[in-house]
Amino acid sequence: MPNQIKYQELHKEYPRYFWQTGKDETFTEDMKLFTLQSRNSTYALAVLEDGFICHVYYGKKIEDNDLSYLLRLDENPWTLKTNERDKGTFMDTLPFEYPCHGTGDYREPCLMINDRDGMSSCEIKYVSHRIYAGKPAIEGMPATFAGEGEASTLELLCKDEPSGLEVTLVYTVFHELDVIARSVRLKNASPDDINIKRVLSACVDFDTDKFDLITLNGSWARERVMERSRLHHGKQGIDSVRGESSHQNNPFFALVSNNTGEDTGEAYGFNFVYSGNFFAQAEVTQHKKTRAVMGINHFDFNWLLEPSETFSAPEVIMVYSSEGIGNMSRTFHDLYRNHLIRGEYKNKRRPVLINNWEATYFSFDTDKLISIARQASKLGIEMLVMDDGWFGRRDSDNSSLGDWFVYEKKIKGGLKYLVNEVNKLGMKFGIWFEPEMVSPDSELFREHPEWAIQIKGRYMSQSRGQYVLDYSNKEVRDHIYGMMKKILDSANIEYIKWDMNRQLTEAGSSSLPKNRQRELWHRYVLGVYDVMERLTSDYPHILLENCSGGGARFDPAMLYYSPQIWCSDDTDAIERLKIQHGTSICYPVSAMGAHVSDCPNHTVGRTTSFKTRGHVAMAGTFGYELDVTKIPEADRNSIPVQIEEFNEFNHLSREGDQYRIGNVFEDNMWDAWMFVSKDKSEALFTFVQVLGRPNYRSRRIKLKGLNEKTLYKNTESGEIHSGSALMNGGINISLHGDFSSKIIHFTAERF
Ligand code: DGJ
Repeated sequence: MPNQIKYQELHKEYPRYFWQTGKDETFTEDMKLFTLQSRNSTYALAVLEDGFICHVYYGKKIEDNDLSYLLRLDENPWTLKTNERDKGTFMDTLPFEYPCHGTGDYREPCLMINDRDGMSSCEIKYVSHRIYAGKPAIEGMPATFAGEGEASTLELLCKDEPSGLEVTLVYTVFHELDVIARSVRLKNASPDDINIKRVLSACVDFDTDKFDLITLNGSWARERVMERSRLHHGKQGIDSVRGESSHQNNPFFALVSNNTGEDTGEAYGFNFVYSGNFFAQAEVTQHKKTRAVMGINHFDFNWLLEPSETFSAPEVIMVYSSEGIGNMSRTFHDLYRNHLIRGEYKNKRRPVLINNWEATYFSFDTDKLISIARQASKLGIEMLVMDDGWFGRRDSDNSSLGDWFVYEKKIKGGLKYLVNEVNKLGMKFGIWFEPEMVSPDSELFREHPEWAIQIKGRYMSQSRGQYVLDYSNKEVRDHIYGMMKKILDSANIEYIKWDMNRQLTEAGSSSLPKNRQRELWHRYVLGVYDVMERLTSDYPHILLENCSGGGARFDPAMLYYSPQIWCSDDTDAIERLKIQHGTSICYPVSAMGAHVSDCPNHTVGRTTSFKTRGHVAMAGTFGYELDVTKIPEADRNSIPVQIEEFNEFNHLSREGDQYRIGNVFEDNMWDAWMFVSKDKSEALFTFVQVLGRPNYRSRRIKLKGLNEKTLYKNTESGEIHSGSALMNGGINISLHGDFSSKIIHFTAERF
C-alpha cells in the first residue's frame, strides 16, 4: 500500500451522557479511517459502523495518525447507532463525503435518483475499498494523469441498497503537488432502470464559514474577471446551463480564509475538468459550516441507467495552499503542465504565429495571405494561421459552416498551393475550423437539417446566424471528422484553431429516444471529446488551439486536448491585464493564447504602444493578429526585437513559476508579474503602468519568488542585489505615460 494513503480500522470508545436515560454510559464505534497525504496537505475521511462516509479533515498537513477525534462523535447526541429516533438530525449535521438526497440531509446533495418506483431518496453506504498506485483514466473523458510513482488512488465502493445503485468514489492524491482529484462512477446493479437526476463529482463539508468565495466571471471579450465576496448564510455559487463552460462563469472557484492574500493564508481551489453545463456552489449551513460542491449541472439533466450500465462523472481538481492564492495558482499550473496537457507541444516553445482574423476578417484570398506571410517571414514570424472564411462559400458569418471544403474563389490554386507557398517562405501553416456548427445556408444543412440540435415543432434559434450540430449523434461526428480529415490530409497543416461560436438552445436530438433526450447536454460534450481525441491521436504533430468566441471554453478538459486556448477576443493590452490575471488564477501562462494586435484596438478602441502590447502578449503563447503589411513601419520594425525577447524568455513563462505582484482588480494604476525559473537562477519581471500619475519618486515594487540569499543582477541597470533586498526592499520603477511597460531580466550571480 503506498504510504500516501493510510487505512486504519479503529475501535473507539466514547464516554457519554445519554439524555434520554439520564445515565453516563459509554458507546463504541468501529470505524475505518482513510488519510490522504500530499506534500503539504492532509485529507481524511472515515467510514462509520453504519456505513456512512464522513468527512474528517482537509487542510494543512498533519502527521498524526488518527484524526477521527475531529468528528466529535462523543458530542453528537444523535449518532444513528445509539439513537435511531433522531436520524434526521444526524443526517443534517454530519459532514458527508458524498451527500445524497431524501433521507434527512437538507443541504445540497451530490446524488439524486428516480428509482424503479419513481422514488428519489437514496443513501449510500460503504461496501469495500481499494488503494493502489497511480491514477485511473476516466472512460471517454479527459482527466489528469499520473504514473505509479506520482500518485495514489483510493476507491470507495458504496451502495444504495434499496435501489441497487453502486457508487464508487475515487480520490487520487498527487504525491508532490497539493492536489486531490475526485471523480465518481455509478453502476446500476439492479434489474430495473434507474434515472440519475444529479451526480456531482465532489463535496467538501468544511467545519467553518469563515471563507471568501473567489470566482472567475465575465462575458464575451471580458472573460475570467476575478470576483471575491464573503460567504454568507445560504447558497452562493456559479454555473453554466449554456452547453459549454462559458464566458459567463468559469468552472472554478476558491474558498479562501477572510485574510488570505496573494502570498499568505489558506486557499482551497476547485476546478472542474469538464466543458459543458456545470454546477459549483458553497452553502453556509444553519450551524455556520460550509458545504462546497461541484459537478455536472443537474439543471435539465437526466441520465437513464439501464441494468449493468455505468456512468462516469468528470473529475474535480482540489488544490490546497497554506501560502495564499499565488501558491494555489502555481500548484494548478504545475499540475496542468505536467499531468493534463499532452502531446508534442506539452513542453515545447510554440511557434510564433500570425493570425489573419483581425487583419482581414473575411476579406482575404490566397494573394493576401501570401503577402502577409511574405512580410511576416522576413520579420521572424514562424507560422501563418488562416482563420475563418476559407471554406464553402463563406464571405461573411452568414453561411457555409459545415461545408468543410475549400472555397476556390478565395483560396485560388487550392489549399495545397497556398500551404506550399507559405512553407517555401520557411513558415508553418495553420487552419481554422468550427466543427460543431452548421449554417442554415450550407450544403450540409440542406442535406441534413435533422443533424442540427432542435426540437421538432419549435422555432430553431440562431446565434451568429448558425445552429449547433448534434454531436451526440456518431453519424454527425463521423461525417464532420471525415471532412476535416480530407482537408488535413490534403496539405502540410501543422496547427488547428478549433472554434465554437455559440451556445445551445432548443436542446433536442433527432437521434435520441424520448427517455434519453435530457442526456443531450452531456452526450454533446462527450461527442466533442470523441472528435478531439480522434484528431489528436490521428495528428499527433498538429498543434491544437481551442477557442470559443474568445475564451468561453477555457477549461481544464480542453487543455487535455489542446496545449493552448485562445484567451479572449479582446486583444487590448490593458483589458488583457485583467483577463490574463483572472485566467492565471488556475490556468498556466503556457496555455493562454495572446497576440499583439493593431491599434486602435478593434474591441475597445484604445491605443497602446506596440511595446506594451508585446510585453502583455509575452505573458501568454505570443503571436500576432494584424495586417503586417499595413501597420506603421516603426511597429513592423519592432517585431524582430519582440520575437527575440520572446525566444530569450519564453522558457521562463512556459516552465517557470508565475508570481503575480500587482492586482489590477484592486489598483487600476499598474500591474506587474514575474516568471521565475524553477531553480531560481533567473527571472523575468514585467511592469505595466496603466495610468501615469505625478510621482515625486519612482515606484518601489517588491519582487517575489527569488532566493533570499542569492545575488541577482538586474541586466538592465547592471545593479546587483540580494534576493532579500529585491523582495523586501524592492526595485525602483520609473515610467512615464499611460499604458507604458518594461521588462527586466534578473540573473543569479555565482549560482
Ligand atoms: C471567434 C474567435 O475567437 C476569433 O478569434 C475568430 O476566430 C472568429 N471567431 C472567427 O469567426
